[in-house]
Amino acid sequence: MPDPYRIWLSEVMLQQTTVAAVKDYFLKFTTLWPTVQDLAAAEDADVMAAWAGLGYYARARNLLKCARVVAAEYMGVFPSDRDSLQTLPGIGPYTSAAISAIAFDLPETVLDGNVERVMARIHAIETPLPTAKPELMALAQALTPLKRAGDYAQAVMDLGATICTPKNPVCGICPWRDGCEGHATGIAPELPRKLAK
Ligand code: ADE
Repeated sequence: MPDPYRIWLSEVMLQQTTVAAVKDYFLKFTTLWPTVQDLAAAEDADVMAAWAGLGYYARARNLLKCARVVAAEYMGVFPSDRDSLQTLPGIGPYTSAAISAIAFDLPETVLDGNVERVMARIHAIETPLPTAKPELMALAQALTPLKRAGDYAQAVMDLGATICTPKNPVCGICPWRDGCEGHATGIAPELPRKLAK
């Protein structure tokens, strides 16, 4: 099983931040504080200094709060279910689903911007965002497998980040191309549509 502490740490760092920007910070944090107990025992100033440059500093403050709750109230063991995870500081609907699926392999549906785009394209959903969100969530839930939900969640996010990209999607190498309605009708690159701002 992946280490829930590392999955949580990476998901919090990846909120509003790219994988490339997160990488060195993730390595720094896991070297300085290899377990959630280590992080919980850290000085606030040391954690804020290690976070410097990543931005959205409320995330760092919540990170430390969350580590301390997990250490003090959960004996250092992250809960696995979404509802318990969402009671922790800095963990919202998206992050709770990602941790539940990726760290614990529970069949939760992870819907970030990448997954919304993949869903809109494979089902050729022309409804614009944000109106389409409930529809895209329902489609994403219908596709979430009961087995290997974590691998699936990571795979759809990676597909959206690397192949099913906002501009110039690389449909030629997409494993979902044959089942993709957006590709069949030639509108995939235009989706998801967005309401004019
Ligand atoms: N952004 C947020 N969570 C992510 C993940 N698990 N993989 C890639 N990008 C992400």
